[in-house]
Amino acid sequence: MLEYDVVIVGGGLTGLRAAVGLSEKYSVALVSKVHPIRSHSIAAQGGINASLANNPDSKDDNPEKHTFDTVKGSDYLADQDAAELMCKEAPNVVFEMEHWGCPFSRFSDGTIAQRPFGGAGYPRTCYSADLTGHVLLNTLYERAVALGVRVFYEYVVLALAVDEGVCHGVIVLDQVSGKLIPIRAKTTLFATGGYGRVYFHSTNALINTGSGIGIAYAAGIAMKDMEFVQFHPTSLLGTNILITEGARGEGGYLFNNKGERFMERYAPKAMELAPRDITARSIKTEMEEGRGFEHEFGTYIQLDLRHLGEQKIAERLPGIRRFCIDFVNVDPVYEPIPIMPCQHYSMGGIDVNMRCESAVKGFYAAGECSSVSVHGANRLGGNSLLETIVFGKLASRSIPEYLEAHDVRPDEKALLRTQAQVEQKIRRLTSGGNEKPFPVLDTLRKAMDDDVGIFRTRAELERALAKVIEVKERYRHVRVSSSALHMNYELIAAMELEQMIDVGHAITLGALLREESRGSHFRRDFKERNDDAWLKHTLATKGPDTEPVISYKDVTITRYQPMARTY
Ligand code: FUM
Repeated sequence: MLEYDVVIVGGGLTGLRAAVGLSEKYSVALVSKVHPIRSHSIAAQGGINASLANNPDSKDDNPEKHTFDTVKGSDYLADQDAAELMCKEAPNVVFEMEHWGCPFSRFSDGTIAQRPFGGAGYPRTCYSADLTGHVLLNTLYERAVALGVRVFYEYVVLALAVDEGVCHGVIVLDQVSGKLIPIRAKTTLFATGGYGRVYFHSTNALINTGSGIGIAYAAGIAMKDMEFVQFHPTSLLGTNILITEGARGEGGYLFNNKGERFMERYAPKAMELAPRDITARSIKTEMEEGRGFEHEFGTYIQLDLRHLGEQKIAERLPGIRRFCIDFVNVDPVYEPIPIMPCQHYSMGGIDVNMRCESAVKGFYAAGECSSVSVHGANRLGGNSLLETIVFGKLASRSIPEYLEAHDVRPDEKALLRTQAQVEQKIRRLTSGGNEKPFPVLDTLRKAMDDDVGIFRTRAELERALAKVIEVKERYRHVRVSSSALHMNYELIAAMELEQMIDVGHAITLGALLREESRGSHFRRDFKERNDDAWLKHTLATKGPDTEPVISYKDVTITRYQPMARTY
């Protein structure tokens, strides 16, 4: 059994930032399914928001304006104290990353460059060309290495040991040795990322299964606001590779097959820089109404960058140009990019407060796997990288406060009991049963894509729910081909499938019950936002019969009363 003061699960920006903050004073284990540099944070392109007011068009910008944009963008479901905290911290964390060596793009006066992004009143997205996640992650990883953070990579977390409302650590599988290892820890922080891969069409890495959220849920911790799933307006046709919002921030246009810049109909002021929920719905509407382009890979809309010119594209969007040439043989300097919306981000997640604390003592969550909630019903582009670093840092402050205030003695017996449960589950998955995990997963993903998408109706959501319940029954008969624990991806997929089904269940049920339209959740049968009935967070807790039990809790409103959202 390993023993640490803190075990952090997840090697992306949140996990690394927390590890950097904790490792000088505490023993820290950072456990990650992949090498930290392969975490999904690496794929973030367009930038990180902070009201630095460096752009000549953003001289009046400040944290209050950033907070307001975030709250309005969230369709008023964000907790306003948390959004305010994040936006206030934003300049500090960006400067901290700069001082740690992060190579941001620069304006000619040497200040950090900032570009416009959707739903923002000012250009406040700091960037490094279209590789912002890459440079932030490498900077933090270098710092973690310099501080001697102990990284266990290719270790998969399988269960949380929670007993009587206290967390005692985790059970992990070392994929290389094939050994199950209990990690006894005074505190546990999940930074496990989002649940994008519950959908087929997603910009997310294959590792983003939502397993951390499902593991916390299985241990009795609520999932919050799961029905709010972000669909990014622009992914590359046929591959769903992210085409950054930065492309529109730099001036790209969206065109339908009539040659119209159709955003004029939906967001006449913001045009292509409306928030993502509005832009994705507008694109989908154009496609549904026959104004898209047809291709064997599906219907698409054009993102036109040609007027930006080769030099600007090469300087600001080099990665996008490369993806387009390599994957669809389109050079954006000369041709429009074929794009379609697809799943991109999880607003919902593990229910925590703005100190990253959950209802279980000693268990914390931060970053995309958590719901604080700073994004509410719709996240603004550029606020995700911000959340990862701000809340990784804040977790590294609240965890020591807990450790200093309590004589924490994690219980070995609780870990051994949890390990026995994991072993039993593995035995079940490697004996009996006639279902393979991947076809069951495919059924789940198809149901989510088909019926829990950008537009939703009661009939579709009921159909999806029936599928989820069918998949749950099939899961009981899943059997993997080999009982080896060493590099057995089928076994890992089967273990995670259970968590993905729970995640899909909470998304679908939350969406079915929420009879209004707010942010990313749009019901064709309830088209309006209804603050009287639905200005509240959804909580899903695992019930005694393993079905989710839904309850609600208030949204924190401080300065901004809900208003109509126009852009
Ligand atoms: O479009 C993008 O570059 C994505 C940014 C984000 O999700 O914040």
